[in-house]
Amino acid sequence: MDEEMAYELRWAKTAVGISLLIIGAITITIAIFGLDIPTHREKIDPIDLSTDFAEGRIIEVSPGKFEVYLSAGQFNFNPSRISLPAGSEVTFFVTSSDVIHGFQIVGTNVNMMALPGHVNSITYGFYEPGEYLYVCNEYCGQGHHVMSGTIIIED
Ligand code: CUA
Repeated sequence: MDEEMAYELRWAKTAVGISLLIIGAITITIAIFGLDIPTHREKIDPIDLSTDFAEGRIIEVSPGKFEVYLSAGQFNFNPSRISLPAGSEVTFFVTSSDVIHGFQIVGTNVNMMALPGHVNSITYGFYEPGEYLYVCNEYCGQGHHVMSGTIIIED
């Protein structure tokens, strides 16, 4: 094997090694730390959101733990105002009644799509009292820029 070939082979092995490291790191975080993307918890009929999503329900499942069923539609969120005590751990279940919307809580890492026919979910702990703005961050039509809501975390 000439020297050039050996050099090529060394770099090829390095590239494969780095790829395997990345795949390994992702596998470990999924298996051990439960890393998951906030998507596709279940399917739902987007025309008939008559279950939990009809009234935009907020449920206290155990002390300090809440579930919020939130639907996005042109051009508002239901519910558009959520009041909870500080220290609440909230699991959001998010869907859409019409087109693709976004659900982003400004200043947090909560950021996902609201898809018609699908329920996405993410859990977030609100430890700091204050007002948290949530917005639609997927262009969804003429009223996209007014599509927002507020979470009030009371002391
Ligand atoms: Cu809803 Cu943009």
